[in-house]
Amino acid sequence: MERIKIKELLRTEPTGTEVVVKGWVRTFRNNQFAAVNDGSTLDNIQLVLTLDEFDDKITSRINPGAAISARGTVVESQGRGQRIEIKVKEIEVLGESDPEKYPLQPKKHSLEFLRENAHLRFRTNTFGAVFRIRHAASMAVHRFFDEKGFIYLHSPILTASDAEGAGELFRVSTLDAKHPPLTDDNQVDFKKDFFGKEAHLTVSGQLEAELGALALSDVYTFGPTFRAEQSHTTRHLAEFWMIEPEMAFADLTDNMNLAEKMLKYIIQYVMNRCEKDLAFLDARLFNDEKNKPQDQRSSMRLVEKLKFCLENDFERISYTDAIRILQNSKPNKKKKFQYVIEEWGADLQSEHERFLVEKHFKKPVIIYNYPKDIKAFYMRVNEDLKTVAAMDILFPGIGEIIGGAQREERLNVLLSRMEEMKIPEEELPWYLDIRKYGSCPHAGYGLGFERFVQFVTGMSNIRDVIPFPRTPGSIAF
Ligand code: 4AD
Ligand code: MG
Repeated sequence: MERIKIKELLRTEPTGTEVVVKGWVRTFRNNQFAAVNDGSTLDNIQLVLTLDEFDDKITSRINPGAAISARGTVVESQGRGQRIEIKVKEIEVLGESDPEKYPLQPKKHSLEFLRENAHLRFRTNTFGAVFRIRHAASMAVHRFFDEKGFIYLHSPILTASDAEGAGELFRVSTLDAKHPPLTDDNQVDFKKDFFGKEAHLTVSGQLEAELGALALSDVYTFGPTFRAEQSHTTRHLAEFWMIEPEMAFADLTDNMNLAEKMLKYIIQYVMNRCEKDLAFLDARLFNDEKNKPQDQRSSMRLVEKLKFCLENDFERISYTDAIRILQNSKPNKKKKFQYVIEEWGADLQSEHERFLVEKHFKKPVIIYNYPKDIKAFYMRVNEDLKTVAAMDILFPGIGEIIGGAQREERLNVLLSRMEEMKIPEEELPWYLDIRKYGSCPHAGYGLGFERFVQFVTGMSNIRDVIPFPRTPGSIAF
């Protein structure tokens, strides 16, 4: 008999039909009632074992964490808390779990503890909900771009270029780490390395996506990216997933429009698909915040915040206006910011971003036209020659969630920008080629997928929204 997943089972009527369910035991009470979960939904199914019908040899092995397979009939539940339950005819323990040793006890565990048990945290309600939502959000990304006629381009993970020019690269090498071959002047001889030159894990698929867009019109990437930055924050990972659309014949406004539409589409999709999981996380967060002082609690509950985001236009302001607001702000005047904004040209720190989003505008904000000196080499220089056509999208509780730009399509301008920023032409001949042959205005952005999942799940630490987090000093599992 084919197994039925619990999500589907819970939708059926208590008509006495026979079913087979498989899953992991959460609790087993009175040698009679087993709550079983298979990850397809937040809810458990209750298995009822009639007393004396089952041997001790079996019931003593039905412990939290054990994998079981049960055959029985779907009946109306006698108890409260569930509509239906399974009256068990036959039960088999497929994988035992020692109740003395199983790390997940039927109680609330701290997220830190669960991070150390990342292989088991999928078994908890919180992480089940987070990863079902993460899945739904991924599907929404593909649907959105597919509906809009974008082509999914698989950008490479191994590269020889530094797309952001920020030097935060992980080297990939097969050379003997202890005795690498050396050149005449005692440098490591990367000509002898696997690719015949230095290679790295990609920091972004953007440059490759630009090549795709300048032939296929609209493309997007969705893949892992890697940054060797020493950032110990709740918003940084060394390995994270990024979604990078790139559009030909598009400018900065088109770019902002696409980004806002996409974010709203994914949020709506998750709200439609994951109502239960969201309600669970909403309540979880609400209860957690009860222990916090009033001024540290969110003004809105999770689901309310998502709705608010759907129903309101994002605020769009130029960097210059943002600086003016910040300069006139209380925390700046009272020197409450760690980095006080002195003048135009200052880079925005997360404290500034959070002030704009959470205190000033109280909604998502798009900041555009940044000073060229604080942005990447590929961004299009504006007519003022001081700013570039860049945009960042800032979200409440998260800060920067998207970074993007209209690209510099003029070969001569791009070359002089690269020279200014000391990026050798020889490193990117293929990138320059598309400015030589049929160049055109184009734009794109990168969405940090985990930061987005943080926003929709309300999880405060980015390590809790990726299955196996990698951060400085930590690569377990
Ligand atoms: O702003 P970033 O560095 O932009 C780029 O990589 C561009 N090439 C994107 C493009 O235009 N195609 O990164 C984009 C986003 C950030 O806004 C942030 O959400 C996320 O990626 N991000 C990180 N997320 C987690 N951990 C990190 N270390 C991150 N660094 C960036
Ligand atoms: Mg950025």
